[in-house]
Amino acid sequence: MKSDKITTTTIKQKKVDGKPITMLTAYDYPMAKIVDESGIDMILVGDSLGNVVLGYESTIPVTMEDMIHHTKAVCRGVSRAMVVADMPFLSCHISKEEAVRNAGRLLQEAGAQAVKLEGGREVAKAVRKIVQAGIPVMGHLGLTPQSIHQLGGFKVQGKDERVAKKLIDDAKALEEAGVFSITLELVPTPLAKLITESSSVPIIGIGAGPYCDGQVLVLHDILGLYPRFTPKFVKQYANLHDQMAMALTKYKEEVEARTFPDEEHCFGMSEEVLEKLY
Ligand code: KIV
Repeated sequence: MKSDKITTTTIKQKKVDGKPITMLTAYDYPMAKIVDESGIDMILVGDSLGNVVLGYESTIPVTMEDMIHHTKAVCRGVSRAMVVADMPFLSCHISKEEAVRNAGRLLQEAGAQAVKLEGGREVAKAVRKIVQAGIPVMGHLGLTPQSIHQLGGFKVQGKDERVAKKLIDDAKALEEAGVFSITLELVPTPLAKLITESSSVPIIGIGAGPYCDGQVLVLHDILGLYPRFTPKFVKQYANLHDQMAMALTKYKEEVEARTFPDEEHCFGMSEEVLEKLY
């Protein structure tokens, strides 16, 4: 392992030192390479893959095979960042044994350094088993997109006392089960602050305000590559969709006007050889 490679130890130490942790998603080789070269701490091969790359309406159709395929591509592009792969829908709920096997595949076959899975106390036993197998686990609480039908849509979680108390309890249960970190999605800022302050593991927020130990966003959202839907918590740092659309229109126009390919992009041959061909 390279000496500057980010590990769970680096991530946990950043919380102790009060240094913000950075995480972004990536789903393929070229994007993962850019994210890694930008110095981001962790790359999440999120099952948001289903929405932003595969064109599904939700993350539910994403399979283990999809996750392995994309995690392999990401790992080929990464040398420094820690790669965390999402456990897709139902991959850790059937049995603890199946959860360990699926988590193991994401490390052994795909090359990830850790897995992320959604849920609180109800998945704590599976988390413990996976951790006991030597696999680092990141939890995911708050808005858990795999339970979207149960949650009744993309709504802020924990605004009322019952759900807020459940989130605090879930964070404790995950911590006791051995997670190295927890993603906290779409939670009011004061609740996220409370959970962050009372947790010994780093809390990585998404739509959870500025007091978390780190932040994660979906790459396609911040680059403006997924115009179908942009949540309120996303800051768009570029508009690659429009730039790409402009580039493609220009290409089409130049081909139709026969101005591409021009001399610079063509190959010549000797007159002598050419004469023999006629
Ligand atoms: O799948 C994903 O990209 C995620 C992030 C939204 C945290 O889980």
